[in-house]
Amino acid sequence: MASFIVFEGIDGSGKSTQAKALLQRLRRRNIPALLTHEPGGTPLGEQLRRWLKGRADLSPLAELTLFVAARAQLVDKVITPALKSGVTVISDRFTASTVAYQGHGRGLDLDLINGLNVAATGGLAPGLTILIDMPPEESLARRNDAGQDSFESAPWEFHRKVRESYLAQAAANPDDWLLVDGAQDKRRLGQQIWEKVKPLL
Ligand code: TYD
Repeated sequence: MASFIVFEGIDGSGKSTQAKALLQRLRRRNIPALLTHEPGGTPLGEQLRRWLKGRADLSPLAELTLFVAARAQLVDKVITPALKSGVTVISDRFTASTVAYQGHGRGLDLDLINGLNVAATGGLAPGLTILIDMPPEESLARRNDAGQDSFESAPWEFHRKVRESYLAQAAANPDDWLLVDGAQDKRRLGQQIWEKVKPLL
């Protein structure tokens, strides 16, 4: 099986930029790779993404199950087939987002979330999760107020809880997580990530 690498972080942490940069590095070295994102990455997932990011006033449990449905479809239709055929998969968000946002952010039961994550992924776990850490004060300031989605417009306290959850998840799994400072220069950050990814390939 090829490598499965996930980027995590609060909104505006710069993880999508770094995920794209890693994809380019792999492609330059002729390593077959694909980049996907959550929620989304399949026709069903993109439909669900519209509901999840819109201001549909979803109940927390409805929200959770939609994220899980999008993930189940993405794992089954995209991630697992790619890994089996030797393609390295990079995902912008995965199961840790649900633990952070729906678990610690929304306060839903963590056993329920972990159970649903295992069901949706069939137990597939990333070989490496890269957490781009940044205080919400900085990351949200990068986003402009107009066009904010249902998560970006959540109160500061919500984003603080999400960040704390990510830091706790990284601390609990030091072998499988890389914690990097999102405030540093983008190039240096890309280099730090590459040093960690290189030996996995
Ligand atoms: P997106 O535009 O992809 O944000 P970002 O660029 O920050 O990744 O929007 C996805 C939003 O969905 C983001 O605010 C995090 C949230 N989310 C959850 O709450 N739970 C989840 O399981 C996932 C995958 C995302």
